[in-house]
Amino acid sequence: MIRLLCLAIGYLFGLFQTSYILGRVHGIDIREYGSHNAGTTNMLRTMGLKAGLLTFAGDCGKCILAVVLVRVVFGKTHADILPLLEFYAAAGTILGHNYPFYLGFRGGKGIAATAGLVLSVNWIMAICGIITFFTTFFVTHYVSLGSLLVYVGIVIEVIVLGQNGFFHMTQPHLYELYAVAIFLAVLAFWKHRENIKRLLSGTERKTYLSSKNKK
Ligand code: G3P
Repeated sequence: MIRLLCLAIGYLFGLFQTSYILGRVHGIDIREYGSHNAGTTNMLRTMGLKAGLLTFAGDCGKCILAVVLVRVVFGKTHADILPLLEFYAAAGTILGHNYPFYLGFRGGKGIAATAGLVLSVNWIMAICGIITFFTTFFVTHYVSLGSLLVYVGIVIEVIVLGQNGFFHMTQPHLYELYAVAIFLAVLAFWKHRENIKRLLSGTERKTYLSSKNKK
């Protein structure tokens, strides 16, 4: 029950679709442009750096808020499974972001929200994620590849940290945590299936932090 509640709290936060709202303010539906994705990368290529950064802040921030709310509300009563509940809150946020009911379940791919997850749950995961993403991005200019490699890293990190006592939970709860992390990784790969096809065929869009995107 408590898990469902955390998922539901996260889902409500996830419904705040920063790119869709910003696009609407400027008279467009971001899902009709570029990659048709309601997310940071597509805002960056369609509306520029400022809009991209605002979208990242909004989508990353909503996941941090959901995790912190769960930590504050359930931190004392459910201290023995708190990291697990934080993951459920983040998973709910990502589901709300990816599948917002009021937008016909057509949202984004959940990567900025995932940044909120690693930034708020564990500093080692945050550092690993930042290094993995920016190294991939600056070498290849493929945001999608960076996002997918971060997810591979998250699964490995959660298992390694869990087995080394970082989450202070019993083994059954750790296995549940690993299952949630693997579910999120599978979901990210599913949401990136078109990107993966383009990466394999060499036709994926490159992203630059400048007007080169428009070429
Ligand atoms: O944030 C999603 C990113 O990994 C890919 O976005 O627009 O290139 O499909 P996009």
